[in-house]
Amino acid sequence: MKTDRGTDVAQYAADFHRDGFVLLPALSNPTELAHLKKTFDALVAARTDAGSFRDLAGPRNADTAAKLPQFLKPERDLPELLDSDCVRGARTWAGVLLDTPADELDYYGHIILKPAHGGVPTPWHQDEAYWDPRWQFRAVTIWIPLDDADVDNGCMHFVPGSHTGEVWPHRHIGGNDDIEGLEAVDPPIDGSTACPVPAGQASAHAPRTLHYAGANRTRQPRWAYIHIFSTTVVTVDNPVPRPWLTRS
Ligand code: NI
Repeated sequence: MKTDRGTDVAQYAADFHRDGFVLLPALSNPTELAHLKKTFDALVAARTDAGSFRDLAGPRNADTAAKLPQFLKPERDLPELLDSDCVRGARTWAGVLLDTPADELDYYGHIILKPAHGGVPTPWHQDEAYWDPRWQFRAVTIWIPLDDADVDNGCMHFVPGSHTGEVWPHRHIGGNDDIEGLEAVDPPIDGSTACPVPAGQASAHAPRTLHYAGANRTRQPRWAYIHIFSTTVVTVDNPVPRPWLTRS
């Protein structure tokens, strides 16, 4: 595999395992990025059920504009996404980072839009906090911005080394159980680092890596196409409860 470091892919895997995240080379191209944005714009405009539309940061069933529009598993209704360079490239890297044959990994996609002019941050969280503790697997999240992502429009921030700890206590954003998104409660974020990523490049992070994305303070929307890959699930004998996952 060609990389922009000109080094062995093993170095990326080593960095990923040491820090809990790593920046990857370009996975897509301007033509594909423009096509994906057009496709995703249409999804948001229609608030279609394709891919399960939700507002990550607003109350359920609100009829106001979504603060943080997201679509889970858009490939269910748009299977052609699975043939995109984004998904193919992300799968190849997931195989490297998880040291598992890429075609054996389970996959789902996730789209998050940060609307222009403010909006809300994606609070500090660990992806594993969203997942059912009765199941165990190894996983990686590969995050591809469709627009250049920087501090002004909500690039990712990571806490190096946080992936080796436990799942931190979480709650629904602002303590409001009507909001789907989670936030870690007083997480240790000393040493966190902002990771600007050009459009079409990617970052990869581990299930317990603490991460955050700021609000979008620019005039342009900022899209991210996110890819979650995991190994085969096994049952956990004594799962640690995640009470924040239980709500009416
Ligand atoms: Ni996340």
